[in-house]
Amino acid sequence: MQNKLEGWSEKYELGIEEIDLQHHYFLDLIARLANELQTSNDLFYHKSLFIELGLYTHFHFISEENLMYRASFPGLNEHKKFHNQLIDGLNRNKLLFEDGHIQAIHVVEFLEQWFLNHTVGEDRKFAEFLNKSAED
Ligand SMILES: [Fe+2]
Ligand SMILES: [Fe+2]
Repeated sequence: MQNKLEGWSEKYELGIEEIDLQHHYFLDLIARLANELQTSNDLFYHKSLFIELGLYTHFHFISEENLMYRASFPGLNEHKKFHNQLIDGLNRNKLLFEDGHIQAIHVVEFLEQWFLNHTVGEDRKFAEFLNKSAED
């Protein structure tokens, strides 16, 4: 299967070094999970990959929320809700995949949508807020 996301690109950068580094790594983890789910049949390994991605997601979200808190970002509470929804979605996909209810491609699509809508889209609002604050 051809992934729609083909690695890190400058257009994904928000201009916040700490977040860009984490997003870059997050994208690498998605690519690895996508590839491994489709090429390995080892269920124990699949579980480990989901755990790896889940832990990194937790780390990244908390890191991002703390950054937002320090900057007094007014959208923090709403943003936290989006993060919680993504974690719920990841857990749901993990369970459905492990129980054989969905195929790897659905998990990959979920993660790609996440990256494009949240990481590239929603997170950008914070970058725009920071840029605007710097101008004022
Ligand atoms: Fe993010
Ligand atoms: Fe975020």
